[in-house]
Amino acid sequence: MSAARPGLERQSTAEEAEHDYFAMNDPPRSLQTHSAQAKAFIGHHASRDRRVVLVTSGGTTVPLENQTVRFIDNFSAGTRGATSAEYFLKAGYAVIFLHRQYSLLPYSRHYSHSTNCFLDFLREGSHGSVVAHEEYREEMLSVLRKYNWAKENNMLLLLPFTTITDYLWNLREIAQLMRPLGSKSLFYLAAAVSDFFVPKDRMVEHKIQSSDAAERNIRKAKDSGRETGLEPSVTSVQSKRLVVDLDPVPKFLKRLVDGWAPEGMIVSFKLETDPSILASKAHYSLDRYSHHLVIGNLLSTRKWEVVFVTPGSPDRWIRVPKHRRTKSLSGSEDQVGLAALKSGNAEATEGC
Ligand code: PMT
Repeated sequence: MSAARPGLERQSTAEEAEHDYFAMNDPPRSLQTHSAQAKAFIGHHASRDRRVVLVTSGGTTVPLENQTVRFIDNFSAGTRGATSAEYFLKAGYAVIFLHRQYSLLPYSRHYSHSTNCFLDFLREGSHGSVVAHEEYREEMLSVLRKYNWAKENNMLLLLPFTTITDYLWNLREIAQLMRPLGSKSLFYLAAAVSDFFVPKDRMVEHKIQSSDAAERNIRKAKDSGRETGLEPSVTSVQSKRLVVDLDPVPKFLKRLVDGWAPEGMIVSFKLETDPSILASKAHYSLDRYSHHLVIGNLLSTRKWEVVFVTPGSPDRWIRVPKHRRTKSLSGSEDQVGLAALKSGNAEATEGC
């Protein structure tokens, strides 16, 4: 008997992982509505022969309880995604912006950052009116016009998610809806995606307790877990310590490339904190998933420099020189995001 080809084996394993994940973890309640909105949006732009990009943005949460009081989160504010979306719009793309609820949004990001309350840009005018301060007026008007243009022309669809599972259900659904766009579809995966999660069947129903009563509840949960042959993920609350047991989230980039959007252009991001492994991890990702571009970035320098890793080309660093690292009014500018999208524009300086 001949052994299965390694490529095929990997493929069926990825498909099995997809099947198991979506069978075990319920879709978000909003999925049907999102799907209908995305379908109408894609149809509208397909009939105009327009390119459509799915931009993912912000962090995904990992709930610890079914009735969620506590969850694990990550740092992402959605700056990269929201900034990049504006530049895709400028470049003529229709943008589906799949973002973490309450993270930064295209255009409004300029005025919504907590350190730059939008009220600080306004003052009371005559006869009870509200007007922008003179020094901000020009920039505000420019942002407002772009925002209105995107809205009036139905160029921007905002779809929120919260948990890792919401994110993955939405990603799969929208990718499959975008399939008929073929090479006119682009996936720009800037969201910070959790690598670990608590599977639904091991999640405790109620708020995890910190007192002795907790012990009894946990034991009860454990007992019910044993009945089904499963252990709850909260394995112990002993001496006030909480031990949580997380499963790996399957890497769905493989399924996106091979199954959900085989003709789309796919750009993923690779985030690291250790500079010595960034490039090699980005190459590894490209080799493993065989997509078009990996943009590597480090947590501490992500706003100023990224590395582009593409098949068959040398790595290309894009760096914003120190003297050009200015903050926007909102302080939420992602300058290298702009530079990357303008690729070749003077704002990006290579190898400096
Ligand atoms: O929002 P900001 O504050 O501006 O920050 C921007 C950013 C740093 C979040 C962004 O630039 C970025 O790097 N996003 C990707 C973060 C991330 O998920 O990196 P990763 O190394 O864990 O994953 C790499 C790739 O695998 C990602 O494209 C992700 O979509 C994919 N992935 C990850 C986990 C998983 N279970 N399945 C996946 O397919």
